[in-house]
Amino acid sequence: MKAIVTGTSRGLGAAIATTLLERGIPVLGLARQSNPALNGFDASCTQATLDLSDLAALTRWLASDEMARFLADEDAVLLINNAGTVAPVGPLGTQGGAAVSQAVSLNVAAPLMLADAFVTAAPAATDRRIVHVSSGAARKAYAGWNVYGATKAALDHHARAAVEDGVPGLRICSLAPGLVDTDMQVQVRSSDEARFPARERFETLKRDGALLAPAVCAAQLVRYLLSDGFGADATADLRELASA
Ligand SMILES: NC(=O)c1ccc[n+]([C@@H]2O[C@H](COP(=O)([O-])OP(=O)(O)OC[C@H]3O[C@@H](n4cnc5c(N)ncnc54)[C@H](OP(=O)(O)O)[C@@H]3O)[C@@H](O)[C@H]2O)c1
Repeated sequence: MKAIVTGTSRGLGAAIATTLLERGIPVLGLARQSNPALNGFDASCTQATLDLSDLAALTRWLASDEMARFLADEDAVLLINNAGTVAPVGPLGTQGGAAVSQAVSLNVAAPLMLADAFVTAAPAATDRRIVHVSSGAARKAYAGWNVYGATKAALDHHARAAVEDGVPGLRICSLAPGLVDTDMQVQVRSSDEARFPARERFETLKRDGALLAPAVCAAQLVRYLLSDGFGADATADLRELASA
């Protein structure tokens, strides 16, 4: 088994890659920065530094065949589309086209391109599993997060429709991870309250210790990903799966 994980430089993606490597599963990590902490495991970690919001660069990387070479001859392969951004935060009229375009490229276009390339790159694998890391914001509307919520809802619907395709050996789930104690939560708590009225709630959740450590969330996610029941529903929430 081998896994491709995006956003491995820090946060949840770094923890997912660590969990997989600890289980002996080789990882190909993609992020703008490499993560030296992923190097000292028995299982190998290959890291490609790539700005996934730069779709021309991603197209070139996909054409390089690195993914197919990494996955060659594997019977069971995993893709975890984790990299994402919460920016731009704020109502319409405050976001700016460049930030909207960057968010849609990183949060939607890149995962969809990687998902398509992943299936192409492992034609003989009998077990192909894709996780899109979604968000509760895909399913509940928050003022200030219309771009973020829309991009994550797009991943949810991509998974639902991909299931309908019935590609042999392919399972896919768009999975909300719950609240995870990462840089993204720091960024959420530092949002301008005028742009993101729910900010105080996130400060309270942090103070109350309600955020999951990335390693704990990653362990739950990987357990679900490797389970027989993975992909039973095209969308899921890790909080509900973990408490079931
Ligand atoms: N934290 C939460 O509570 C929470 C809740 C719900 C959903 N999520 C979702 O969980 C996922 C991981 O979030 P996180 O909290 O771990 O975020 P994070 O701490 O901000 O880490 C984001 C990761 O994505 C990578 N990334 C960002 N922009 C990139 C780009 N342009 N190209 C390539 N990689 C890029 C970053 O690496 P580089 O900067 O090195 O590129 C980093 O490794 C996201 O999809 C997020 O929406 C998080």
